[in-house]
Amino acid sequence: MATSPLQPWGESVEASSHDVLLIGGGAAGLRAAIAAAEVNPKLNIAVVSKVYPMRSHTVSAEGGAAGVAKPDDSLDEHAYDTISGGDWLSDQDAVEAFVAEAPQELAQLERWGCPWNREPDGHIAVRAFGGMKKMRTWFAADKTGFHMLHTLFQTTLKYQPISRYDEWFVTKLLVDDGVVRGVVAIELMSGRIQAILAKAVILCTGGCGRVFPFTTNANIKSGDGMALAFRAGAPLKDMEFVQYHPTGLPFTGILITEAARAEGGYMLNKDGYRYLQDYNLGKPEPKPVLRCMELGPRDRLSQAFVHEHHKGRTMETPYGPVVHLDLRHLGEKLINAKLPFVRELCQKYQSIDPVRELIPVRPVVHYMMGGVSTDINGATPLHGLYAAGEVACVSLNGANRLGSNSLPECLVFGNRAGKAAAEFASSHGLGNGAVMAQAADEESRLKSEFLHKTGGRERIATIRTEMQSTVEQSVGIYREEASLRAGLHKMMELQERYQDITLDDRSHTFNTELESALELGFMLDVAQSMVASAMHRTESRGAHQRTDFAMRNDEKFLAHSLLYRNFDGSARVEYSPVTITRWPPGERVYGQHAQHPDAKAVQRVS
Ligand code: FUM
Repeated sequence: MATSPLQPWGESVEASSHDVLLIGGGAAGLRAAIAAAEVNPKLNIAVVSKVYPMRSHTVSAEGGAAGVAKPDDSLDEHAYDTISGGDWLSDQDAVEAFVAEAPQELAQLERWGCPWNREPDGHIAVRAFGGMKKMRTWFAADKTGFHMLHTLFQTTLKYQPISRYDEWFVTKLLVDDGVVRGVVAIELMSGRIQAILAKAVILCTGGCGRVFPFTTNANIKSGDGMALAFRAGAPLKDMEFVQYHPTGLPFTGILITEAARAEGGYMLNKDGYRYLQDYNLGKPEPKPVLRCMELGPRDRLSQAFVHEHHKGRTMETPYGPVVHLDLRHLGEKLINAKLPFVRELCQKYQSIDPVRELIPVRPVVHYMMGGVSTDINGATPLHGLYAAGEVACVSLNGANRLGSNSLPECLVFGNRAGKAAAEFASSHGLGNGAVMAQAADEESRLKSEFLHKTGGRERIATIRTEMQSTVEQSVGIYREEASLRAGLHKMMELQERYQDITLDDRSHTFNTELESALELGFMLDVAQSMVASAMHRTESRGAHQRTDFAMRNDEKFLAHSLLYRNFDGSARVEYSPVTITRWPPGERVYGQHAQHPDAKAVQRVS
């Protein structure tokens, strides 16, 4: 590892130092590292990841990455689909930058080796995706994230200034006088606690689906970066907006990609009826119609599932109610060519073959629209701290992300954050003794609260299970005042009980119990921020549906929520305006007869 020499520090803590430090080795982190290395080849850059980078959650992304690719499409149309899909909560300057840079990033990725599917004539192949009016989703079969992550990882290996801390767990951001100066991290293999100082830190730790009991997210997605930033004083933005993906396998929560519906799959209720035609999502057509029925946006499809369930038209299974995804009419050849991973997942995890059988599916927590508040270049309000990818809220996705916008978001805003952090690091110095004292305090805390503590009465798994069911009950697909209040109350109780947990494992080598305890602490902060933000937003917008406030309220809530941590540990919610550049708030309309305004015809604000 090409770090600077370790320096003895305090009684036992050692320190290494870098110019730019990435926390997280998924698509956003690796893209940011490459960008930083390209801005200034003299910078010393390091990537810290609690897993080996190729095990980052990006690897499990399936369906594809959106970017305008065809002459019949335009950047404005991609922007409009994103903004209306997000129920007008997206910052439109971020959207405009995103749609312009996404195709460049995807083409760049191919030059680095990403094997995008191509048409027989050599053009990039694109598929339809939910809520997108045009076909613009680039894909590598249905293993897009796997190929993207490989490409980025192998590209980082070409840059000598990029070193890695694989399997290191970050416990704290070091902040001096409002400036982030590095982190404290545990080397999981040895249990060694070390400070890693940096002139700029970029959080790319992904989302937080694991605060819910049923999610597509890997176990590692425990909101670490969100909680680290929040504890350090940065606000969390729009945390009430949680995305349910309509098609998860029951029991495991494994994602059955939206690409299955883009290729023509049907959603059927227990009567074999394509029920989405009853929910203002258009009528069945012989061929799939863009933005229609099964290709409607995820928030609407997940809400339709709840209504079907209430009407008694879902099927009960030991793992909850389900509907069916029908791919049988697509045929074995197409499924093998375009959806091989879907077939493999169904065979291995559900013991069914989608070529011949219906796939049971139900909505599953998939993505967090909210996150650490950043500007368009990934800068947070804390100097020296940047964030990109799912951990961040820039805000591109507003109240509901469109499928396939997330992978290019990692690339576009990873690139931007990497550049901005490199420029910051090129003109700023490292921290001083104050952060070293903080690191020593953090080491003491880890020992006294976890490793050396005896007599605690609470178990990690108990608190985690109670947290997950609380979050599901209070910030599920539909929310209302009483369950939000109860949820907040319960979260406060769980925070208190967390102080009383005890570990059985005191060992230093791969102490996974310690890791679970630290992750639980992060998840509790993140879960509480979701419930608090949802309680204050007394309207319905996108993925935030309040049964007690059923309408969108632009007068009061065309605004981002910002959740801050107070000095005494309590939190406060503030609001900031949404940036509207060219598309004033309008109605979200889906289905083949909808008036989808061509961007040029949309009323302009100025
Ligand atoms: O269904 C999917 O393949 C998911 C894509 C996404 O979340 O962007």
